[in-house]
Amino acid sequence: PPIYVVTPTYARPVQKAELVRLSQTLLHVPALHWVVVEDAAAPSALVGGVLAASGVSFTHLSAETPPELRGGPGAPSWLFPRGAEQRNRALRWLRDTRRPDEPGVVYFADDDNTYSLRLFEEMRSTRGVSVWPVGLVGGLRLERPLVAGGRVVGFHTGWRPERPFPLDMAGFAVGLRLLLAHPRARFDPRAERGFLESSFLGGLVTPGQLEPRADNCTQVGVWGVLGAFGGLWGLVNPGQLEPRADNCTQVLVWHTRTEKPKLRQEEQLQRQGRGSDPDIEV
Ligand code: UGA
Ligand code: MN
Repeated sequence: PPIYVVTPTYARPVQKAELVRLSQTLLHVPALHWVVVEDAAAPSALVGGVLAASGVSFTHLSAETPPELRGGPGAPSWLFPRGAEQRNRALRWLRDTRRPDEPGVVYFADDDNTYSLRLFEEMRSTRGVSVWPVGLVGGLRLERPLVAGGRVVGFHTGWRPERPFPLDMAGFAVGLRLLLAHPRARFDPRAERGFLESSFLGGLVTPGQLEPRADNCTQVGVWGVLGAFGGLWGLVNPGQLEPRADNCTQVLVWHTRTEKPKLRQEEQLQRQGRGSDPDIEV
């Protein structure tokens, strides 16, 4: 089945570098379609150029985060979730263009993370929701689902363990058919910090009732009775999450973040009318 990789992206000095790097990872993956959604009023020439030159099969869309969901200029970057509007635009594209019985796997790949090629082969067999560890996230070396007897029984996390699904965006993929069977599943752009992934997965997976156990930074889940009824609504129950990457013992994706470049000299020269050639794309 094809893998649909959904990437939100926004204009900033490192945007082109991020997208070139990601495109050159994706170019190695067979049967992949890249859905790139810009946080902008319209698709830009810069992103369009990267996509056209990439050799990757792609769809180029845009959806601007509304000002009220961005926080003011001085607002902390974590006040509202990032990339929600853009991922929802991609969901709409999938729902508008794919037939309900079409095979496929959907993965939300941010433009700044680091992806092993092996990850894509691990996710390709996703039926409902597959999960795996993510490195360098949540203030830990890694977060991961805990697996016993081939089933996900909880999550190793150190941050807000009460989240229904304490998973980073990079740590799961969903089957296209499951997604299309739940036309209302979407990312809540008003979700509290850290709850964006849960807002989406909650539309596909029965909420498990996680009972925290003593072990520091480790949760062992006991899925509530709700799980047993989830099937009635066509939802996956948490015990049916599909562990990948050797029962979630291998890190194949890293939540890397790119340092913001300092452009002090550029600003100084620009004030003197001697900035770097604006006709050269960076
Ligand atoms: C973490 C998660 O890894 C993200 O998937 C999640 O969206 C985010 O938290 C959140 O909950 O807000 P983090 O590294 O903090 O990620 O977020 P970014 O990488 O800065 O942004 C996630 C994606 O949204 C990126 O692909 C980025 O290009 C895009 N984005 C960011 C926008 O489209 N618009 C923005 O204003 C900011
Ligand atoms: Mn990021």
